[in-house]
Amino acid sequence: MNAAATPLLELRDVSTSFRVGGFFTPRLLKATQEVSFTLDRGEIVGVVGESGSGKSTIARLISRLVPTTGGAMLLDGDDVLVSEPRRASLAYRRRVQMIFQDPFGSLNPVHTVAHHIERPLLLHGKATKENARSAALELLDDVGLRPAEDFIDQHPHSLSGGQRQRVAIARALAPEPDIILADEPTSMLDVSIRMDVLRLLDDLRHKRGLAILFITHDLAAAKHLADRIVVMYAGRMMEEAPADQLVKEPAHPYSQLLMAAVPRRGGSLHDPLPADPGTPPLVDPRPGCPFAARCRQTVAACTTTTPPVIQLGPGHRVACHLHTARTQ
Ligand SMILES: Nc1ncnc2c1ncn2[C@@H]1O[C@H](COP(=O)(O)OP(=O)(O)OP(=O)(O)O)[C@@H](O)[C@H]1O
Ligand SMILES: [Mg+2]
Repeated sequence: MNAAATPLLELRDVSTSFRVGGFFTPRLLKATQEVSFTLDRGEIVGVVGESGSGKSTIARLISRLVPTTGGAMLLDGDDVLVSEPRRASLAYRRRVQMIFQDPFGSLNPVHTVAHHIERPLLLHGKATKENARSAALELLDDVGLRPAEDFIDQHPHSLSGGQRQRVAIARALAPEPDIILADEPTSMLDVSIRMDVLRLLDDLRHKRGLAILFITHDLAAAKHLADRIVVMYAGRMMEEAPADQLVKEPAHPYSQLLMAAVPRRGGSLHDPLPADPGTPPLVDPRPGCPFAARCRQTVAACTTTTPPVIQLGPGHRVACHLHTARTQ
C-alpha cells in the first residue's frame, strides 16, 4: 500500500449498538450506523450534530471504550478491530488520547497536577522517575500554564475551569499521541476563555502535527477550527465537506438547517432547531433517511431506502436521495 495515501486513521462503515430495555425485553439502540471518514496528521476534523446524534459514541469507539458492531477502523492502514479485537493495546492507547467535556470530573481532586501528568509520562515510557517532574513542567508550559512551577503542585480545585482543561490537555499530550479526541472540550468553559482553548488546540496541531477530532455543538467553533466537518444525525453521517464549503454550500437539507442557524443563534446547537419533532427512534429505526420526517425536500425514496453516501466533489460526500438522483 502507498504509505503517502494511507490515512492516519480511517473509519469504514463503523457501527455500534447498545443494549437497552428490560432484562426480558432487551432491544438494540443503534447509536452509530455505517460511519466512514478519515483523519490525517496535522488535521482537525469537526464532528457536529444535535444532542444524541452519536458524536461522543464516535469518540468512544475510536478510543475503544465501547465495542463496535460492524465496520473497520484502520490506524496507519492496520485494522485495529482485527489486530486487537478484544481491547486496545497500550501502544494504541498511547497514540489515541481523549479530552473530555468536563474538566472538573476528568481530574481526580485528591491528586496534584504533577501526579496527573507524571503518571502517563511514566506509564508510556516518556520519562523516568528522575526527569518526570521536569517533563511535566515543560508540558504545562506548552499548554500555557506559566510559570509552570506555580501550577504543578496545585490540586484541581484551586484551578479555574480553563486552567483545569489545560491540565487535561497536558495530560493527553504526555504520551506523545498522534490523535486527540476532543469531546466538546470548551462547552463547559466560560465563553470568554473558550477561544483561548481553541487557539491552543490549533497551535498544538501545527507545532506537533497532531490530528484532532473536534466534537462540538458549536458550529461557529467548528467552522473556525476544523479543516473538514462531518455532520451527524441520528447516528448516521449526513454530509462531510471541507469546512468552508460546508458553511457556504451545504448540500444536505439537514446541513442547510444547521448552517442557517449559525448567524441566527450564535451557532450553538444546545437548543432545538425549528421544525424539530425530536430525534427519530434509534431503537428499531424507521426505514429510509432518518431526517425524512423533518425534511421539506423529500422524494419517495426518503421514507423507504437509506440513502447511500455519494461523492459530490473532492472531499465532499453526502447521504441524500436528492443528490443521488442528480448524479445518476
Ligand atoms: N452506554 C450507553 N447505553 C445506552 N445508550 C447509549 C449509551 N451511550 C450512548 N447511548 C445513546 O446513544 C445515542 C447517541 O449518544 P451520544 O452520546 O453519542 O450522542 P451525542 O451526539 O454525543 O450527544 P450530546 O451532544 O448530547 O453529547 C443516544 O441516544 C444515547 O442515549
Ligand atoms: Mg456527546
